[in-house]
Amino acid sequence: MDFFNYKENELYAEDMSVAKLAEEFGTPLYIYSKATLERHMKAFFDALSGHEHLICYAVKANSNLAILNLMAKMGSGFDVVSEGELRRVIAAGGDPKKVIFSGVGKTRSEIAFALEQDILCLNIESESEVDVISEVAGSLGKVAKVALRVNPNVDAKTHPSISTGLKNNKFGIAFDRAFEVYKKIASDKNLKVSGIDCHIGSQMTSGAPILEATDRILDLYNRLTDEGICIDHIDIGGGLGVTYSDETPPSPYEYISAVTAKLAHTNVAIYVEPGRAMVANAGILVTQVLYKKFTENKNFAIVDAGMNDLIRPALYNSWMNIIEVHKRRDDVKTYDVVGPVCESDDFLGHDRKLCIEEGELLAVRGAGAYGASMSSNYNSRPLIKEVLIAGDKAHVIRERQSIEQMWMNEKMI
Ligand code: LLP
Repeated sequence: MDFFNYKENELYAEDMSVAKLAEEFGTPLYIYSKATLERHMKAFFDALSGHEHLICYAVKANSNLAILNLMAKMGSGFDVVSEGELRRVIAAGGDPKKVIFSGVGKTRSEIAFALEQDILCLNIESESEVDVISEVAGSLGKVAKVALRVNPNVDAKTHPSISTGLKNNKFGIAFDRAFEVYKKIASDKNLKVSGIDCHIGSQMTSGAPILEATDRILDLYNRLTDEGICIDHIDIGGGLGVTYSDETPPSPYEYISAVTAKLAHTNVAIYVEPGRAMVANAGILVTQVLYKKFTENKNFAIVDAGMNDLIRPALYNSWMNIIEVHKRRDDVKTYDVVGPVCESDDFLGHDRKLCIEEGELLAVRGAGAYGASMSSNYNSRPLIKEVLIAGDKAHVIRERQSIEQMWMNEKMI
């Protein structure tokens, strides 16, 4: 459930008319709902309430400072994958001691920065990284708390581009190697074993894959415990899917309680790293129809938002729901909704039944995750404005980038 609903055929974001917001702030425009974010966060907290836990919101899904600040105020920790994300968390008032750092390619300086901030845990993704973290920690006189991101070779049954827990993926340490690597870490004075981590994929619409992965992790946990290697947390990653079309993912409660039931007999805390499930349905992208074009085979609705603003359809062929801001049904036609960028793949949706005139507005739902955070300046299009709605108040949480800001760091020879 979210807080984008029609009132008398006009789309509202909480108590504010989307059309009025578009008029005031211009388009394309990202609009987020604070009440939806709070609802999602609460769902995760409720699901985890019977178990020691930490929610580490995956910053990459939406890294706007205002969103991070809200998450921090609600008690969330953070999953980061770069120094930039860690610095965002700190700038937004997040607690570095609730931050875990994942990613296959952490640089030495990123590792050093993370250790200086005393973050909670570094999730190690390769055997070479073990040595590098040990070296950097040693040189700083620190002991790095670490988990291995284990690749359990479990099929997340999602789009291949966002599947991460299979043998052929670059992520994590092969399950069969993990035990040996833990033994090595346990004997390293610069490292302290903290947890076991896995993240097998994104937009999972069933709980079965994560339960399979949890079984494998439990197996490893038991072997490590028998060996005297102490594990204080198990991190099941992110990956819970959302409804873009007719998917029926489990609720956070269903998804997590099945995992906690499996881990009930252990004494470890559970960490989760949700991104999409937290923010996707808390955001829409509003765009204006510039032109309609009718050709022999296709009708096009050419809109002012492009693949640079929202790349998911172009990159993964993702289906995202496109709705009219002013809903009516008197002249429904089938359109390809396409952007102004000079690429044939610049589309938001194919074959959509819409009733729309030039100058009217469309909204792409589910755009709160991996929308703004993946946007770019391609075709020299400035990053667009983002507003966060709280009841009947609109807060601009990112100004539209100016033309000069776009080329600020460029130099002519
Ligand atoms: N933890 C790690 C280590 C991750 O790599 C990810 C996502 C997450 C947590 C959060 O996963 P979530 O709960 O959001 O599924 N750009 C793609 C999604 C890429 C996900 C990358 N990793 C998309 O738009 O579908």
